[in-house]
Formats: sequence, structure tokens, C-alpha cells
Amino acid sequence: MAKPQDLPRQLALDVLIRFEKAGLEKLKADSLLQQAFGPHPQLSDQERGFCRALVMGTLRRWLVYDAWIRQLTGRPLKNLVPAVRCLLRLGLLQLEGCVQVPDYAAIDSVVQLAKAMKQSPNTIRFLNGVLRSAQRRLADVGFEVPPSETDLPGYCQARFAWPSSFTESLSSGYGVEQIETMAQACQRQAPLCIRVNSLQTTVAAYQQALAAAQIDFESLPDLPEALLLPEFSGSPRQLPGYEAGWFYVQDASSMWVSRLLNPQPGQQVLDLCAAPGSKTTHMAALMGNQGAIVAVEPNESRIQLLNENLQRLGVTCVTVWHGDGLNLALAHQPQFDAVLVDAPCSGSGTLRRHPEMLLQWKRMDLTALNQTQLALLKQGFAALKPGGRLVYSTCSILPQENTQLIQRFLAETPDAKLEQDAQRLIDTKTDGFYAARFSKK
Ligand SMILES: C[S@@+](CC[C@H](N)C(=O)[O-])C[C@H]1O[C@@H](n2cnc3c(N)ncnc32)[C@H](O)[C@@H]1O
Repeated sequence: MAKPQDLPRQLALDVLIRFEKAGLEKLKADSLLQQAFGPHPQLSDQERGFCRALVMGTLRRWLVYDAWIRQLTGRPLKNLVPAVRCLLRLGLLQLEGCVQVPDYAAIDSVVQLAKAMKQSPNTIRFLNGVLRSAQRRLADVGFEVPPSETDLPGYCQARFAWPSSFTESLSSGYGVEQIETMAQACQRQAPLCIRVNSLQTTVAAYQQALAAAQIDFESLPDLPEALLLPEFSGSPRQLPGYEAGWFYVQDASSMWVSRLLNPQPGQQVLDLCAAPGSKTTHMAALMGNQGAIVAVEPNESRIQLLNENLQRLGVTCVTVWHGDGLNLALAHQPQFDAVLVDAPCSGSGTLRRHPEMLLQWKRMDLTALNQTQLALLKQGFAALKPGGRLVYSTCSILPQENTQLIQRFLAETPDAKLEQDAQRLIDTKTDGFYAARFSKK
């Protein structure tokens, strides 16, 4: 067993090895971390935070470190077993300074973990040697990075761990500078952002509660209900008023979507892809719980989350429909004043929070997603009253799911008029997202 003080590193290593062994497929880092913490209730918030930083940081820099390991060892990665690869990545993360530990502790901690795993003396010498050369190389010439002017995908992979195919899929929509700014923003953990729930409290009262708990917060322009908590790294449940529904954890980019739809008290609103209810509950708050929202969701476990959120936040104007948005008999009932189609998407705008996506990118089936997105958008539009408005949104930065998709929709839907759309890039404060508002002639 590792020394008790190394438990966060040990757990981080276990999670990273599970990723490797699962073939980096559908696993979610957040749920693996929760499973890892389960048997260790004694872990402090600080230790959980450190373990999380190790896992998320390694996932975020994975492709960079793999290239470094190849350069340092002169061998293909497949010649090393998963545990050794993960030990090296964990060492490199600490040496690179992505978590604050001195170099000697970075290397020693890896050696101790390897000993605790009963790795052979040869392997321990190998790990020690590779990490010491990495330390020298980082302090000296660093590692090779192709020039961004001639090889943007190669540059983004070597510098930011963005797979080349991901950067290529952005190239039709963005310039080099925009891509680099987003990639840079993705190198850090995203700060927690919350929405104050106006159905249970006020922004002023909640700010006072945060100040009394000595928690720093920051407001965002044009979004009074949003508060960023830049220094807070604990669980949201520890914030004032979690059980009482005073707030909801939600990125500001997601709040802009409901604001763009601007549902009014008393209106009939359709939320076609509703769970877990970030925007359903935001719209209910904007409507003061007056009117009716029909929230559609096919996924049963996500419906459960939606119902829990409605209850905790005191939302009473929502009816939940468990079903497929494409099969609902809505087409012949254009009864809604406002429709939200927050479509299933690649999630590429949320890379700061889900860095494992980088490793799973080649499995992303954008063609299938595009078909569902377009079909849902058409279905939502069919349910809209003439004169009503619809917002299509994704938490994606890919033109293929956003501007290009709505061009297809407009070409096939003569009674739709595009009023406004916005592509927000990933930055250090907010996720990337896209939203387009249409009216019905
Ligand atoms: C981007 S998420 C929605 C997030 C949600 N609007 C919020 O703000 O919390 C997309 C949702 O669409 C659901 N979905 C997938 N296919 C669907 C379909 N055919 N009809 C309706 N919803 C669908 C997914 O299960 C997922 O919950």
C-alpha cells in the first residue's frame, strides 16, 4: 500500500490506469473519481481536490506527455505497460508545474507509488531515469513543437494535447488566433459557476450569504443571476443553501441560452431536450413559475436528475414527458409560444470540464449527431405557433453542429426566419456554446 499521505496520488493513478485499460472509451472522469472516493470517506476536501487536479490535469495533457515519453525513451508507447505509462504521465504533470509540487517530490512520489505497486527495481530505475531527463529537458530546450503557421493541427497537439482531427474540424470556422486562445483556456480547470435561483432567494441575499461564508465571488456582465466562484474548489453541496435550492451549478454560457429565448410569465413553452434541467429550471425562474413548460427527455436516469432539480429549486410549472422528442405527436399541434431545442451534441464547448473528450474524440460520430440535431430542430419548429420563437443551442464549438447545421435547416424550412445567432468561444470564464433564435412566419 502507498503511504497514507499518498492516497490522493494512489487514487489518481488507479483512475488513470482504468482509463487506459478501458481503451479510453466512454468512461467519464467525474464518475470514476466519485467511485474512487467512495471507500475513503476520511479524505479531506483538499485531498479530493488534489486527486481531481492530478486526474483532470493528466487527461488534459495526455497527448503532450505521450509525445514527450516517446522523445525521452526513444520507444513506442505500446512497449510500456499501462501502469508505467500512467506513472510517467503523473510524474510529468507534476514536473511541468500543472500542480504545485517541488521537482524532487514529483519524482519521489512516482517512485514511491511504483514501489507500493511492487514494480521491479529495473522499472523503478527506468521511471526515475526518464523523469530526471524530463526535468533537465524542461529546464533546458524543452520539447519539439511544430510551427503553428504551417502545421496548426500538429502544433495544437504538441502544445495543447488537442488531437489533430479535432483542430482540423475547427479550421473551417475559426482563425489560428481564436483556436489558440481556446486551446490555451482549456489548459486550466474551469472555475465553478452558479446561477442564483430567483424562485428561492435574490442575488443580493445570496451574495451576502457567500460573503458571510468568506467565499469570493465575481459577477458577469449582462447576466445578473450568474456568479463565478474562482477560488472555490469544494463540493457545491457545501455552499450556502444547496438543499434549500438557492442556486444551481451552471456555466454562464448555458444561462445565455434561456435569456435568448426570453420566455415570459404565462406562456406555453416546450423544452425538447430537457434533462438534467439547467435551462428548464432557469426558464421557470425567468417566468416566475407562471405558465407551463413541457420538458421532454427520453433518458430515464437523466429524467430522475431533472425531477430532483425541479424539486430542489421549487419549480412547479413544469410537466415532464418521458419520451423521444422525435416521436411525440407534436407536429400537428403548433401550440407553443416558445420552444427550446438544446440538442444532444459533441459537448466540445465543455472541454475545460471534460478533458477525457480529447482522448475519445476519434469515436465521435458527428454525422449521426447532425441527423438527430436537424430532426429535433424541425420537430421543435413544427410545434411552434406562428409568431412564436425557437432557440436552437449546443454546447459545441464545431461549425458542423452550429452555423452549418442551421443553414441546412433554413434551406429546408421556408417559414423559419433567423433573428439572431451567436457562437461563443471557450474562454477562461465560460464554456463555448452556440445559440440561434428563429421566429415562425
Ligand atoms: C445537451 S443535453 C440537454 C441539457 C439540458 N437542456 C440542460 O440544460 O440541462 C441533450 C439532452 O437531449 C436528450 N436527447 C437525446 N436524444 C433525444 C431525443 N431524440 N429527443 C429528446 N431528447 C433527446 C439527451 O438525453 C440529453 O439529456
